[in-house]
This record gives sequence, C-alpha cells and structure tokens, in this order.
Amino acid sequence: MTRQFENKVALVTGAGSGIGRAAALAFAREGARVVVVDIAEVGGMETVKLIEEGGGQAIFARCDVSSRHDVEAMVKRTVETYGRLDCAFNNAGAGVLTSTTDCTEEAFDLAVRVNLKGGWLCMKYEILQMEKQGGGAIVNTASAAGVVAQQGHSPYSGAKAGLIQLTKVAALESGEKGIRVNAVSPGPIRTPMLEPLLNDPRIKEHITKNVPMHRAGTPEEVAATALFLCSDAASFVNGAIVPVDGGKTAGFLRQ
Ligand SMILES: NC(=O)c1ccc[n+]([C@@H]2O[C@H](COP(=O)([O-])OP(=O)(O)OC[C@H]3O[C@@H](n4cnc5c(N)ncnc54)[C@H](O)[C@@H]3O)[C@@H](O)[C@H]2O)c1
Repeated sequence: MTRQFENKVALVTGAGSGIGRAAALAFAREGARVVVVDIAEVGGMETVKLIEEGGGQAIFARCDVSSRHDVEAMVKRTVETYGRLDCAFNNAGAGVLTSTTDCTEEAFDLAVRVNLKGGWLCMKYEILQMEKQGGGAIVNTASAAGVVAQQGHSPYSGAKAGLIQLTKVAALESGEKGIRVNAVSPGPIRTPMLEPLLNDPRIKEHITKNVPMHRAGTPEEVAATALFLCSDAASFVNGAIVPVDGGKTAGFLRQ
C-alpha cells in the first residue's frame, strides 16, 4: 500500500517533544524523510532514534527558530541532505503564560521571538525553497489563545494572534505559486508544556467548563490534523486556521 508522504521531505520544528514529536513520527510512518528540528538536542536526537527504530529516515537539525542564521542554515541543510522540502510544520513555541502587568520585558520578548518571529523566519526560508520547486505545504501551530484572548496569557495570546495573521498573509501571497499555508489551533493538549498544569484543580475545572469534550487533547490528535493539511487531501485548503480544541473556541457553554 502506498503511504501518504512516500518520496516527500518534511521538516518539523519543536520536534523534540510533544506535538512536534508526534508529528515527526507520523510523517515518518507515512513514508516521509523527516528533518527533526529543535533547540534541544537531547529531545531531538530521541525523536530521530524513535523514527529509526520504526524503520523511518530522519536527521536532527539543531536550530533556534528565532535566529535568522539558524533557520536559513536548517532549510539549506534539509535541501543538501534530502534534495527538496515538500512539507513544513512550524510548531516550535514557548508557553509564556503571564498577565499584562506581571509580564516582564524579557518574558514578552521571548514570547514574541519564538512564537511570532520564529514562525515568520521559518515561512520565509521555506517559501523561498518551495518557490524554486514549484510548490509545497506549510502548517503553523497557532493556539486557541490566539483565536480568543485568554486571561493571564498576555504575551502568548498576542504572539499567537500575530502568527495567525502571518499565516493568512503568507497564504494570500503564495497560493498562486502552488504553496499552501495553513495553521492548526490547539486547545489544551496533554504535552510536557501543559502536563504540569493538568493536575491543578483550577485547570481541570477550566477544561470541564470550557471544552465541550471535557478533556485535554493528545499530541497525536494535533499531529493528524497537521498531516491532513500537508497532504493532497487538503489540496484546496489555504489560509485556514483549523481548531483542534474539542470545540473550545466554537462558543460559550452554558455554565
Ligand atoms: N500543549 C498545549 O496545550 C498547547 C496548546 C496550544 C498551542 N500549543 C502550541 O503547540 C506547540 C508545541 O507545543 P507542545 O505542547 O508540544 O510543547 P513542548 O514543550 O512539549 O514542545 C515544544 C518544543 O519546542 C522546542 N522549542 C522551544 N523553543 C524553541 C526555539 N526557540 N527553537 C526551536 N525549538 C524550540 C522545545 O525544545 C520543545 O521540544 C507550541 O507552539 C505551543 O505553543 C500547545
């Protein structure tokens, strides 16, 4: 049976953990050669090992997505190693969760650097490569907190909202070049970023009251949506921000 991403090359940022790791493994299972991108070497190498143990092909590229030098070098290395770039899942993020008044200048800069500038830099160099090939698919990881404002998430909500607009602008600019750009917008997902908070009774109550499905999602559920958006099955989907949030941003539940 032909696998969905046979003969394709996919890069995934933030692939050393959580949603990114789940997506890197899923791309590899579907036949893609995968570039595992992360700032953290240990997690990234572990993802490569897991892919190889499953019979897949992958390399690790250490990269801080907020560094122009790193991102340019990472896309160059992808092409030098595997010859092309078909799919990019720009998923690395920093969960800087603090209120408007508590937020420090350093925390604000970190949120914007990783979540907003990182998304822009990745798209810039990926699109330049995809233009040379005549096509490709890009998916960014936004957040429910970027779709609706979230109390106590000031710099994170602001940066993810900005990433949503960057996604739409890139989709408008790149559609005629055969490059589709979309985003997934996760609600609460059980990953190392959220896991420490999931035992907090207030977070449990927040999920019960605000997520119609009354549970956190899994990294695999977000990865499956990202792969769909990268696949030919989504060949006319461009500029979409797809919620993977159990219905959290659909409206308000009766309290
Ligand atoms: N977990 C959630 O509930 C949730 C909800 C909405 C959105 N998100 C978004 O999903 C994405 C993945 O998060 P996760 O929950 O899997 O978290 P995670 O902490 O498990 O994984 C994030 C990965 O990104 C890497 N990373 C951080 N800064 C980086 C940088 N500057 N350059 C390269 N890599 C970097 C980390 O090393 C880590 O491996 C993030 O963009 C996050 O904002 C998560």
